[in-house]
Amino acid sequence: MPRGWSIVGWDALLIGATVGSILAVAGGGEEGIRVVIRATARISVVLFTAAFVARSLSRAWPSPASRWMLANRRYLGVSFAVSHATHLLAIFALGGWSLAGVVTRAGVPAAALGGIAYAFLAAMTATSFDRTAAWLGPRRWSRLHTTGAYYLWAIFFVSFAPRVLQSPLYWPFAIVLLAAFVLRLSDRRLRRTAGFTVATAR
Ligand code: HEM
Repeated sequence: MPRGWSIVGWDALLIGATVGSILAVAGGGEEGIRVVIRATARISVVLFTAAFVARSLSRAWPSPASRWMLANRRYLGVSFAVSHATHLLAIFALGGWSLAGVVTRAGVPAAALGGIAYAFLAAMTATSFDRTAAWLGPRRWSRLHTTGAYYLWAIFFVSFAPRVLQSPLYWPFAIVLLAAFVLRLSDRRLRRTAGFTVATAR
């Protein structure tokens, strides 16, 4: 299994190959770009969910796979950023490479909500290096990464969930996202209860 920064390298290669194949087959017109947008969203959700649940999963079901996910959580997160940067590039390609074009196509509310998601993603990626994380400090780092992760989860969920009405293909995405959310929340509750028990036992 790859580990560390090589995960980001392999994922970038996979994303590049996927986008290249789509454009070669479907062409660089609107249809091809839309397929790229959907494909990158799907690669992104896999990488995001792996990073999102890594710690809770390794506590609930310790296994070599969940330990690997936890040890490489940062690189799964940066790989997600690479995939979602490609999503953004394709969105700009669809909007004629102008912000006005993107906002006109998406509508102001969706563009604003998506923009906030990208601001979180940029801040989380920038603070995913030892030096920048140390500069931010553990409390603020944790606040940024927890809030950002739940916000990104919400954008994924509101993007995928309504599409289950269009095609049953979207059910697995919606179900996995819901399961990831429940797992994170129950782990949080367990940790809080454990912390409370330790504190009151003192
Ligand atoms: C301003 C920001 C954004 C814009 C303008 C945008 C635009 C789009 C467009 C046009 C599609 C539909 C493509 C098609 O079906 O033809 C799409 C799909 C999608 N986007 Fe984005 N997006 C943005 C940000 C985000 C963010 C931040 C996330 C997740 C955190 C996200 C997740 C998704 C998902 C899950 C899909 C559905 C993919 C599928 O059908 O399989 N998007 N986006």
